[in-house]
Amino acid sequence: MSAPTLEARNLVKDFHLRSGFTTSTLHAVKDVSFTIEAGKTIALVGESGSGKSTIARMLMKLETPTSGQILLDGQETGTSGRAVEGYRSQVQMVFQDPFASLNPYHTIFHHLERPIRLHHPRLSRTEVRERALELLERVRLSPAESFAERRPHELSGGQRQRVAIARALAPGARFIVADEPVSMLDVSIRLGVLNLLADLQREDDLGVLYITHDLATARHFSDEIMVLYKGDVVERGPADEVILNPQHEYTKTLLGAAPEPENLGRLRDEVRAELAGL
Ligand SMILES: Nc1ncnc2c1ncn2[C@@H]1O[C@H](COP(=O)(O)OP(=O)(O)O)[C@@H](O)[C@H]1O
Ligand SMILES: [Mg+2]
Repeated sequence: MSAPTLEARNLVKDFHLRSGFTTSTLHAVKDVSFTIEAGKTIALVGESGSGKSTIARMLMKLETPTSGQILLDGQETGTSGRAVEGYRSQVQMVFQDPFASLNPYHTIFHHLERPIRLHHPRLSRTEVRERALELLERVRLSPAESFAERRPHELSGGQRQRVAIARALAPGARFIVADEPVSMLDVSIRLGVLNLLADLQREDDLGVLYITHDLATARHFSDEIMVLYKGDVVERGPADEVILNPQHEYTKTLLGAAPEPENLGRLRDEVRAELAGL
């Protein structure tokens, strides 16, 4: 058996757009390849519209690639319902919007119970409950019993994102695709959520694709950075190298430009403060 890896091989996604009588093709993702290893984080950075979410959606099998493959532990992964279900027990996603990703009618326990049961059908009711409470403790939603009975509207954005992380871990996932997981959260709580993800990653030896347009956290939380520009990876390498010695003009522009000036500066300061305390 080969090493635990999640590999995107030559992924391409074209969207065919129709407007009146004319059609055009948008090349959203052009031949992108990378391999995420267990215990490692790759950051995928790029401005809005560069194709980041399309790559995430293909990795989650929510979108069918125009061409290319997704391999898990070196094996090609299928597209049948059963294959996808098995695949998703290994590869899970944390979405950008913590308000849209949880069902307002269901308790937090219900959100965790379903993936736990689906992938561990032999657990008893008590064991499922224990597992759900353990997961809530792991994402530091404590007391777990109280959070389990709440509904999403009773939680803050940061707490919801912690539930989303717990839900991603529920089926025993080994790889997490996190698509701008903190960009919709208040700046003051972003680092807490990212630090939590980093802790869980270490504990479970998870492989993570961290999608962001924020280079400061990409550097701090990732081993490797890939820079995406109009569907192409224009630069990639060890995180420090890409940030300290960018080769591509676009990376230099990204480093020079602050997409959210007030936030980015503050987050950078927080990361620095955090680093100084390490
Ligand atoms: N379902 C779709 N149909 C048509 N175009 C799409 C669709 N999804 C994404 N796109 C287009 O593909 C490009 C990449 O989008 P996306 O992957 O969401 O970028 P990012 O996540 O980096 O902001 C954009 O131009 C977007 O408008
Ligand atoms: Mg996106």
